Amino acid sequence: MRVLGIETSCDETGVAIYDTDRGLLADALFSQIAMHAEYGGVVPELASRDHTRRLLPLIQQVLDEADMTRGELDAIAYTAGPGLVGALMVGASTAHGMARALDIPVLGVHHMEGHLMAPMLEAAPPAFPFVALLVSGGHTQLVEVQGQGQYRLLGESVDDAAGEAFDKAAKMLGLAYPGGPQVARLAETGNPGRFRFPRPMTDRPGLDFSFSGLKTHTLTTLRQLDAAGELDDQARADVALAFEEAVVDTLVIKCRRALDDTGLKRLVMAGGVSANARLRERLGHEAEKRSAQVYYPRGRFCTDNGAMIALAGARRLLAGERDEIGLMKAVPRWP
Ligand code: KG4
Ligand code: ZN
Repeated sequence: MRVLGIETSCDETGVAIYDTDRGLLADALFSQIAMHAEYGGVVPELASRDHTRRLLPLIQQVLDEADMTRGELDAIAYTAGPGLVGALMVGASTAHGMARALDIPVLGVHHMEGHLMAPMLEAAPPAFPFVALLVSGGHTQLVEVQGQGQYRLLGESVDDAAGEAFDKAAKMLGLAYPGGPQVARLAETGNPGRFRFPRPMTDRPGLDFSFSGLKTHTLTTLRQLDAAGELDDQARADVALAFEEAVVDTLVIKCRRALDDTGLKRLVMAGGVSANARLRERLGHEAEKRSAQVYYPRGRFCTDNGAMIALAGARRLLAGERDEIGLMKAVPRWP
């Protein structure tokens, strides 16, 4: 089955074709980051308009790349939520329009299930069951995964998501949006040990997270440095490092706990923050200590993309799931 995947939930237009026998045939992405950067974050209306401009040309591009015609598509999967409603509508209406015209099945999938399945695009995919750490701009969750659709939420953030915390810290440090990669880059020149930030909610049992306190801690530290006339480039780098270490440490502590609690030996991480090199290194190290395996997608498939939606949708479509044609789904909040 050859499935066209469409992702338009936020600020990336992602399109891909996934073949359930041969794997990924083509994948294309247009990132709107530069357009939103001057506003310091995603402007929903601009996002929707840009998806309408980019989507059809990108679909043509992946068809060309896969050396296929539209008529050779067997099904379409699109992100139905959660996300920005206007942006979601662009993908949903395009998917349903094409499905009706081509008379093929169409299915709306959950964006986070896409992230969760992204490591399966790699050469050595994880087998079920596993623990998944989903860390993106909107979510921080630990999930026990028995199979696709069989999820038990082990813990999640009670306030900001990890990626959101990175983005906010970046703003305070005067870095551009999206902040995660920029904070990580700045942290490379930081002095370890100059500042130590708290590891929120690690001193009590449970697998929930809280990152909003770290944001306040960052702001207070920067203000104190500024008042003392010590807020230079080195101090900023030192703060970036202390912040990154605190987030990574917190995530690692909870992952360790989740593996111990469930007795599982496989840990999958996905979502934008899973691109973080320090997090990958630390989790790899922890997993090794307890002879567990860590899986994550290549960098390009950590952040939003069409390939993960094509893959997650293809597996459900193969099992016979589909939307009623014309009943397009755009679900901004979808637990
Ligand atoms: O999964 P994603 O592309 O979009 C959402 O579904 O939210 O994740 C984007 C988030 C942003 O908050 C971004 O700052 C963060 O992932 N991010 C990173 C890194 N790369 C992206 N955070 C930390 N370190 C990185 N290297
Ligand atoms: Zn995402």
